[in-house]
Amino acid sequence: MARRDPHSYCDDTQAQTVSFALAARVSFDTQTIAGEVTLTFFEPAIGPLDLDTRDLTIERVEDTSGKQLPFVLHPPEPILGARLAVELVAPTPSIRIRYRTAAHASALQWLAPAQTKGGRQPFLFSQCQAIHARSVIPMQDTPRLRVRYTAELVVPRELTAVMAAADRGRHEDGPFAVHLFEMPQPIPPYLFAFAVGELASRDLSPRCRVWAEPSVVDAAAYELADVEAMIGAAESLYGPYDWERFDILTMPPSFPYGGMENPRLTFLTPTVIAGDRSLVSVVAHELAHSWTGNLVTNANAEHFWLNEGFTTYAERRIVEALDGADMAALQAALGRRELDESLERFHDKPALTKLRTQLAGIDPDEAYSLIPYEKGYLFLCAIEAAVGREVFARWLRSYLETFRFGAITTEDFVEHIEAALPGALAAANASAWLDGAGLPSSAPPLRSARLDAIEALAGAVPTAAQSANWSPTEWALYLESVPRPASEATCRALDEQYRLTASNNFDVLVPWLTLALKSSYAAVLPRVEQVLAEVGRMKYLRPLYTGLAHNAATSATAQAVLERNRAGYHPIARQMVETILREAP
Ligand code: BES
Ligand code: ZN
Repeated sequence: MARRDPHSYCDDTQAQTVSFALAARVSFDTQTIAGEVTLTFFEPAIGPLDLDTRDLTIERVEDTSGKQLPFVLHPPEPILGARLAVELVAPTPSIRIRYRTAAHASALQWLAPAQTKGGRQPFLFSQCQAIHARSVIPMQDTPRLRVRYTAELVVPRELTAVMAAADRGRHEDGPFAVHLFEMPQPIPPYLFAFAVGELASRDLSPRCRVWAEPSVVDAAAYELADVEAMIGAAESLYGPYDWERFDILTMPPSFPYGGMENPRLTFLTPTVIAGDRSLVSVVAHELAHSWTGNLVTNANAEHFWLNEGFTTYAERRIVEALDGADMAALQAALGRRELDESLERFHDKPALTKLRTQLAGIDPDEAYSLIPYEKGYLFLCAIEAAVGREVFARWLRSYLETFRFGAITTEDFVEHIEAALPGALAAANASAWLDGAGLPSSAPPLRSARLDAIEALAGAVPTAAQSANWSPTEWALYLESVPRPASEATCRALDEQYRLTASNNFDVLVPWLTLALKSSYAAVLPRVEQVLAEVGRMKYLRPLYTGLAHNAATSATAQAVLERNRAGYHPIARQMVETILREAP
């Protein structure tokens, strides 16, 4: 074997990096990072070494005695980036690379002060999953390899740097601050992460701290007050928490995801800060990754369902432990709706609706959808139903124990469960789940009394009594069940009775605005434009831009709104919106 990850030049017959030491200077003026990284190998190595890079300028490669090593930076490939081929001319324990990032590095978003809440200071954050770490550090960027690291980040002294790592101190040096970090647990490169900005923090418990811009940190601390209880629930399900700390960074609004499970420092969209703790299941999801994903990692993006399907299952067990089986069932029902939508969206790419995928020549960001999450979740539920919850829970613990701090494929999963629970896969119809497109007809139905009550409305406007105490999940389920286009009278009644357009809970607001757009209810347009100017989370951008673009009355607005906000969106979000507008009828 040589290359075993279709998204990396890493060659497993060559030197294997086990740790790196990064020294980097962050320049907001040029929007670049000038870095020096030392890659240390498992054992002294000789011969060719292929590294992943994207849009990096490589200035020098040397061994640790300072002797220059020959290298070739190959022309970039559209998905993989540019192969950096280094020649280790004598047995070499580690190499040092001096380099600079590009202003458009795909892992980085540089925000102007106006794009932050405080408006005074700029902000920088990284998002390396799936294959963007290579735009910040030249390295073997594949989750098959785990690395430990240390980092020294030099930033303007007015700013604070945080990293998915242990904090090893800060000192000031003239106009700069030097932050030291160390990651003692080995991680796949896509989990490397940091941010720089005007940040404040609040302790939530001895091992949990929330970071945010000063003006939002108290609201964030209120919203996340129960995180320690969440960790407790997760530990009783999945075993001790292995990462020492679970800190959370509340991101600026342009963060394109709901959350990102960067180890020791989860990145969280500020849209979770709803004021009533009603959206914290996103935190349960990122926390669950501490076991499923960060401890047991997909060996490459073709097995992404092992990360996200397991995590969706693990998340719902945490929600069930804390908020009851009803709440978990409602969230699963909403997930099922979103799965159906995603399957519909991918109907002309059926190969990408399988759990086990083949992604050579396909960008993981293009293949991304909720299918591995929700189909993976249903598959695990099918196995659980076949063997019983107790047996399944015991197997899950042994799976986590066997593969902890490892990287595995679907084949490894199959082999493990076949040995531990013979016949379970066949009973759950596993081959249809893993290698079949769409959903097997045996997919378990999702039922609950609260779901039945919503469905019984058949889209009629609920009375105050019927909708009393509805969670955002119930509102979303209800709003998505309203036949579209809804009549003007229905839209007006809903909005007048429930003030939906004024809602600040995005999981209610966005399903409402989506229904209203599909119903040509023009009164919501100013609010839609406001939301699209304020948040960059793709979960919200997608339905709103789709709603605008797929309606002749608003398709020109879609284009105009994108033009106005394009610069503020994360490159990944920008690309997604552009695709929606390009493919609109
Ligand atoms: N790891 C993902 C986010 C991700 C996946 C980023 C692939 C880049 C490439 C994270 O754990 C996630 O799943 N986030 C969800 C949260 C939700 C399912 C609760 C999101 O962002 O919507
Ligand atoms: Zn996830």
